[in-house]
Formats: sequence, C-alpha cells, structure tokens
Amino acid sequence: MKKTIVLLPGDGIGPEVIRAGAGILEDTAHEFGHQFDLLEYPVGGKAIDAAGAPLPAETLDACRSADAILLGAVGGPRWDERPIGQRPESGLLELRQSLGLYVNLRPVRLLDSLRGISPLKTERAASIDLEIVRELAGGIYFGARGHERQDGVERAHDTESYTTVEIERIAQFAFARAEARSQRLTSVDKANVLASSGLWRKTVNQLAAVYPRIQLDHMYVDNAAMQLVLAPAQFDVVLTSNMFGDILSDAAAALVGSIGLVPSMSCGTGAPLFEPIHGSAPQLAGKDSANPIGAILSVTMLLREAFGLAIEAEWIEQALARVLERGVRTPDIAEPGSNVVGTSRFTEALRGEMQADLEPAERYGWGV
Ligand code: NAD
Ligand code: IPM
Ligand code: MN
Repeated sequence: MKKTIVLLPGDGIGPEVIRAGAGILEDTAHEFGHQFDLLEYPVGGKAIDAAGAPLPAETLDACRSADAILLGAVGGPRWDERPIGQRPESGLLELRQSLGLYVNLRPVRLLDSLRGISPLKTERAASIDLEIVRELAGGIYFGARGHERQDGVERAHDTESYTTVEIERIAQFAFARAEARSQRLTSVDKANVLASSGLWRKTVNQLAAVYPRIQLDHMYVDNAAMQLVLAPAQFDVVLTSNMFGDILSDAAAALVGSIGLVPSMSCGTGAPLFEPIHGSAPQLAGKDSANPIGAILSVTMLLREAFGLAIEAEWIEQALARVLERGVRTPDIAEPGSNVVGTSRFTEALRGEMQADLEPAERYGWGV
C-alpha cells in the first residue's frame, strides 16, 4: 500500500508525541511492506512564528492532497495574548472547517492494565468503553461572535447555531456507529434551555425512525457530566455538539487514567485527521515526559479507519498492552512499582515489543 501522510507536530508536546507516532508508522510500513510517505508541515504557534499565520497555505494544500493527517497539538503561552482568530488554535479550527471534518470520534476505553489508575472505584470503572461522537465543524465554535464597547459597557458574544443538515449528518454517523457496536445511542444536549438543542433533539428523533434497532436516549449535558462519572458503563455511543463534546471528552479521559491516552479521528468530506485529544501541555514540553499513547492510538485509528489495515493496528495495540502490563509507564499513568520512563523510552519499549512479536513470524515465514 502506498500512502501519503501529512504530519503536523504543532507546539509544546506535539512534536514529542508525533515523533513517537511517526516511528510507529515507519515500523509498520517496513514490516508489512507498505510505503508511507511522511511529509511534515508547520501548524499553530510554530507556523505563526515561521510564516505569520497558524495555517499557512502550503500546509492546507498538503493536507488537501494527503491520504491522512496526523496532528500533535497547538497553542501555548507564547501566543496566548493574541486575539481570537489569530491564535494557534484558530489554525486547527480553520483546518477542520476547510477540510469539512464535521465528525470527531473519540473512543474512551479503560485498558485492563490501567484499571488501578482510574479515579473511580474499580467496580464503577469496570466497563468504560464508549465513543464520543462530537460535531466538529459547526456550533458555537463557528457561529457569529463579537466584542464591542458601547456607553462604557464592554460586551462580547458567541453564537451557538446549527442547521438541520449539520445535525443530520453527524447524527447519521453516530447511528451507524451505534449499529456497529451495542445498538445504544445517547444524544446529549441542553434542550431545556437552548433553541439550537431543541432543533438538535427534534432532528435526532426524526432520524431515529431510519434506525429502528437503535435504542436512543436523550440526556441533558449537566446530567450527562454527572452520569459519566457516576455510572460510565451506561454509555456506549454518545452523540453531542462541538462544545459539549470537547468538555465531556476531557472528563471521560480522566476516568480512564489520563488525557494522554485518548486518540481521535476527524472525518467528513476531506482527508481524515487523527490527533490525540490532549493539548500542547506547555508545562511538560521539552521534558520528554509526555504520554505518547494518545498519539500512538491515533496512528492505529488511522491505519484501521483510513487505510483498512486492521492487522497492523492490532499488532501495535497488542504490543502496547504487553508493555503496559509489564509496568512500563510514563509519569501520568504510573502506579507504585511501575518502571517510570519518558516519552522516548516508552516508545522504544513499544517498538522493541512490536519487533519481538514479529520474530516467530519471520522465523516460520508467516505472511509478513
Ligand atoms: P492540555 O491538554 O495541554 O493539558 C491539560 C493537563 O493534562 C495538563 O496537566 C497536562 O500536563 C496534562 N497532559 C496533557 N497531555 C498530556 C500527555 N500527553 N501526557 C501527560 N499529561 C498530559 O490542556 P490545557 O492545559 O488546557 O491547554 C494547553 C494548550 O493546549 C492551550 O494553548 C490550549 O489551547 C491547547 N490545546 C490544544 C489542543 C489541540 O491542539 N488539539 C487541545 C487542547 C488544548
Ligand atoms: C480539542 C481542543 C480544541 C477544541 C482547541 C485547541 C481548538 O480543545 O481538540 O479538544 O476545542 O476543539
Ligand atoms: Mn479539548
């Protein structure tokens, strides 16, 4: 298989976790006889410094013609004083919107070997395995906003707005995802207060007629935040808006041990984009201690979902499970007795485990 993958390391710990992901992609190409052309471009703060804009035209052009995109994170204190619209984060939003990436899928799963680090009591954490389907190209992130001063009063506003079509297309994705899993879908909104949520709920209900096998529930977002912490096992596929999905997914990540563990896929009309859900973690940047697992699982999502390479993805994920089982951990997921290592040594341990797994196959000439 020959594919072009655009790497957008970005800022802070972004380059550190993308280096880990790129190494895994190189090993996969080498061992399975694929050709992955990895092309690196600037985005976010790095791009502001180098080219004056958080999403330079060359970066967007490269993304438009890529088979898949792997992004680290953007943002940091160096650019925090810049106005909304000219910050590193705007580059990411512009990229999502330009590529028509209206779906953001965030799988949140408690790994067996990490049960001990969930902040929930073991029995509550027992089966956290859910997918947040977050609308990504609309809502308050992209609605009208302004900042004005009148008669000495300063006012700023942002607008949450959704059309039926925008809701339908993300809901369709969520229903299909629920069909492929346990037939349960929870749509999260604030329909008791917001007009946009009223339309959200009505549209999701209308679509439910097309998916009679799906058990659909609605939940207000405040309750959903509580239920997620109290009884996460009740959730399977969670459908929600751009901003609610952003917030609920960080909370869900905490339940499985660290935000550094959770990957995501964004897709729609353009090339699919894969990124860990965490940010640039400025306090960790340059310390070689960030957890690269969210980026690595973004690579396995890329292989599986964008290229259909399930065997390759399994190979990586099984090696990852064994490395964690052995107690090799970055500081954020360390337990008493863990072998605590940094980003690079964790990645080396994983790559070594992936190789070790291949040895018997090579010895017996199995089809790699
Ligand atoms: P953050 O996700 O960067 O950090 C939140 C907390 O999680 C911090 O304590 C951090 O140390 C920890 N953390 C994050 N990733 C980790 C990892 N891989 N391993 C171990 N610990 C990890 O969120 P924040 O502090 O709110 O934001 C920092 C910057 O990142 C801001 O500029 C923000 O806008 C940006 N941001 C970018 C993205 C993105 O690019 N997708 C996402 C979120 C935040
Ligand atoms: C995320 C981030 C982004 C978002 C920011 C950096 C624009 O928090 O991907 O979760 O809010 O979507
Ligand atoms: Mn976020």
